Amino acid sequence: DAGLVLDTYRRPLRNLRISVTDRCNLRCRYCMPEAEYTWLPRRDLLTFEEISTLVDVFMDLGVNKVRLTGGEPLLRRDVAALVSMLSAKPLRDLAMTTNGVLLAGHVEELKKAGLNRVTVSLDTLRADRSKTLSQRATHPSVLKGIASVAPAGFTDTKIDTVALNGINDDELVDLIEFGRTVPAEVRFIEYMDVGGATSWSPELVLSRAEILTRLTAHYGPITPLRNHDAAPADRFELPDGTTFGIVSSTTKPFCATCDRSRLTADGLWYLCLYAMEGVNLRDPLRDGASKADLSKIITDAWTARTDRGAVDRLAERDRTPFIPLTALKNDPH
Ligand code: GTP
Ligand code: 5AD
Ligand code: SF4
Repeated sequence: DAGLVLDTYRRPLRNLRISVTDRCNLRCRYCMPEAEYTWLPRRDLLTFEEISTLVDVFMDLGVNKVRLTGGEPLLRRDVAALVSMLSAKPLRDLAMTTNGVLLAGHVEELKKAGLNRVTVSLDTLRADRSKTLSQRATHPSVLKGIASVAPAGFTDTKIDTVALNGINDDELVDLIEFGRTVPAEVRFIEYMDVGGATSWSPELVLSRAEILTRLTAHYGPITPLRNHDAAPADRFELPDGTTFGIVSSTTKPFCATCDRSRLTADGLWYLCLYAMEGVNLRDPLRDGASKADLSKIITDAWTARTDRGAVDRLAERDRTPFIPLTALKNDPH
């Protein structure tokens, strides 16, 4: 831990989420709802070499977990080549979050490239609901993608489900049962008013407390498991030993232990999911900054970090009538 840096709340920098493209092939209502977006021009995207250089610098400062995200990361051409470059580094974990649509066609090369784990987003087991939620008829491909993960040799797979009141709240048990067959651990995520969630409303949030009540009614007593690291999901065990998680970003934020930050596809480094502005790392990189220069920029920013975005948001919601947050560029991937 030679280069470990701590922020103002003594939180280390351990977890880096790297968005490799801003594009997505779905239009999930809670994330990227509009019909069309203006995508970043290609020259603005960090190259794989640039990403690799930044990861080296981040690793010197304590980062040991990297997650590739998007948009949809499998839309970035040859993303497996980036996986190969990153898997050659001594990281503790290298994972990818994907919507699963293109996964079946890439799963083998991702495994070969050294990816450790895959997390697939799946909000419903019903094709019609999926189409309503994502505005695309891709449900069969997603299921195929999920089915391809275990045969390719991946373990510790996760399924991320955004739990939405009145939309998929009657599928909690079905999703857990489905996860068992994959096998994958299902995590229910509280709907957050962040990023592209332009029609967020408190009534749509299915809370952690409500999720636990419903699952207890079906399965019987649920045992909380001890959280081993700063992971945002609280994990639980059903009486038969099946585990699942809940990410309660909205009703019970985990900012106190947040060790994560995110790098956008165009090289802006956001210290918090709710941050309004990111630190531009691309320009210094392209202007010839050395690793030591980059290390200083990152250290200075992290050392000054005061963000507790989700906690602040919760406090604000308690004080004032709901004000939708629509101006944020950052997204929760
Ligand atoms: P694991 O190592 O597999 O546990 O990864 P993870 O816990 O980082 O999970 P993942 O990246 O799949 O994130 C799960 C969900 O948590 C995301 O889809 C978001 O909805 C939410 N989330 C991720 N990062 C943040 C964050 O920084 N703040 C908040 N409030 N929520 C987040
Ligand atoms: N609230 C909660 N999670 C979200 N995601 C995207 N938008 C939101 C939101 N508004 C997360 C989901 C999805 C992943 C790709 O991003 O977990 O599965
Ligand atoms: Fe971390 Fe910000 Fe998310 Fe809180 S809201 S957990 S500080 S990224």
